[in-house]
Parts: sequence; structure tokens; C-alpha cells
Amino acid sequence: MADTNWVATAAPIVHLGAKPVFVDILPRTWCLDPVSVEEAITDRTKAIIAVHLYGNLCEMNQLLEIGKRHQIPVIEDAAEALGSTYLGKSAGSLGAFGVFSFHGSKTVTTGEGGMFVTDDSELYESVLRLSNHGRSRDSNRMFWPDVIGFKYKMSNLQAAVGCAQMQRFSTLVKRKRQILNLYVEEFSKAKVNVWGFNSSPPDCETGAWMPTVVLSEPSANSNLSTRIQRELRDDCDIDIRPFFAPLTSTPPFAKSQISDAQGRWAYKIPPVSINLPSFHDMSTDQVRFVVRSIRERLEI
Ligand SMILES: Cc1ncc(COP(=O)(O)O)c(C=O)c1O
Repeated sequence: MADTNWVATAAPIVHLGAKPVFVDILPRTWCLDPVSVEEAITDRTKAIIAVHLYGNLCEMNQLLEIGKRHQIPVIEDAAEALGSTYLGKSAGSLGAFGVFSFHGSKTVTTGEGGMFVTDDSELYESVLRLSNHGRSRDSNRMFWPDVIGFKYKMSNLQAAVGCAQMQRFSTLVKRKRQILNLYVEEFSKAKVNVWGFNSSPPDCETGAWMPTVVLSEPSANSNLSTRIQRELRDDCDIDIRPFFAPLTSTPPFAKSQISDAQGRWAYKIPPVSINLPSFHDMSTDQVRFVVRSIRERLEI
């Protein structure tokens, strides 16, 4: 899996008693670098986890081809990629299975919760059973576990909230894309010379969950992002979020053997990058205010 990630992708691997292996990202999509993935594969590798970071798409064809050659499944963590498409196919539908998040910050939310998707009916039944105390849905006995499971059910109330939003799903995704495009336009109009925004492989379309900008040439030693975040919060009351720190720099994974940390994109991009505010009701004037406030602080 990629070093650039939210810890939620790595924690289940640890809970299973397995070991996550963190590889570098590509500089423009911030998703798994297929070359690094292939180099990291050993006979103990069980799966490749492809996270579509901030809605950007992974190089799925290359990853699926590597998985096929090594006979290991590719799993898609599409938690951040509702509405993203890879060569016309929905993110989450390309690997052995996909997962989505409906956390409060996501494009569609049920407060907390998520969704598992697969076209493998056996796997589907198995996951359903595990999510419901190990009970099989075709069992004719009540209160009868077939295996030891978990309780990962969504309540009807949460599902109702989610279903209502799914009815206007395309409107919600369209608005997220508009906001990302507006940022790109407004930075350009304001002549702010940034290094890059969210990007995906050709013929892919992002769901634009999290508009993100790389403000300057990536550098592991920069403090630009920290300064901009602090100043925007203190001076302008703008809620700027940090780009994910590499997981190998966080306490749970600090012992991972990374010899080339400072040279990794996963280390060089976060210090110069920020997540931009992007709530659905954001107005054009508010986007302009954010861009103007950043420009003024970059000129210092
Ligand atoms: C990449 C990624 N994976 C997994 C998750 C976990 O989702 P949840 O918080 O719904 O459990 C998140 C949540 O933000 C995420 O961003």
C-alpha cells in the first residue's frame, strides 16, 4: 500500500496480524507507484491495496496487471473516490472488491458508516455474514451464528440518510468537481504559480472529494504548508487541512524500514501541500477569498 494514506487503510492489516508494506506514490496523482509496488512484492505478499487518494485515480490497469502476474488480488480503497471513474468504470468496481466511506466529511455521508462492493457473490455472502455476528442470511434459525463475526451493520436511520443523498448523488459530485475546477481557474487568474492540483491518469474523471494544491516545488524540509495553514486559520478563519503525512513517519509505523524517506514523494509533497475548503454550498466569492488569502501569504 501507499505510504501516503489515512491510517484507516493500514490498521485492519495490523489487526489481522499481517504487516503493511509502504511504497512510494507518484508525484502527480499521489497514488501508488506501480514500479515501487512490483519491487516490494515477495512470496509473502497477500494483496495490493490501491487507495484513490482525494478522489484521484490509481494506475489501475498497471496494478491489475501486476496483481495478475503475481496472482495476488488488488483491493480498492475508494473511501475518498465516490464518483471517480477510471476509463469509464466506477472507482471501487475494478479490483477484487472496493470499499467506500460515508464519514461526515465525505461527498455522501451517513454520519459514520460505509459500503463494501464486489461482483464476487461468494465473497459478498462471506462479508455479509461476518458483518452480522457470523449469521448467514439464508439460515432458517434465529440467533444462530455459523462463524465468529463482527457487528458492522448500518442502522436503518443511517441508511435512510444515505439513500436520500444517493438520489442526488450526481448533483453532489458535480458540485465537488465545479469547486475543484473553480480553484484551478482562480489560482490561474490570480497568477499564483503553483506546482499542481489533483490529477489522475488520462481518461479518468475525479469525483473531486478533496481539492488539494501543491503550492511549490516538493521538498521534505519545507515548512510552507504549516505556515500557510496557521496563518489562514489565525488571520482569516479559513479551515485548511494538512496533506496526509507519510504513515511511516507516524508512531505506529515509525519502525518501518525506509532507507530513502527524504527522497520519497510521500515525504516531499505534504510539507508544501494543503487541502482546500470544499463544502457543497461554498460560493464563488468564498473560493476567491481562499485563493486571495493564500496568494497574499505566498508573496511574503
Ligand atoms: C483512504 C481512506 N480509507 C479508509 C477510510 C475510513 O473510512 P471510515 O472513517 O468511514 O471508516 C478513510 C476515511 O477517511 C479514508 O480516507
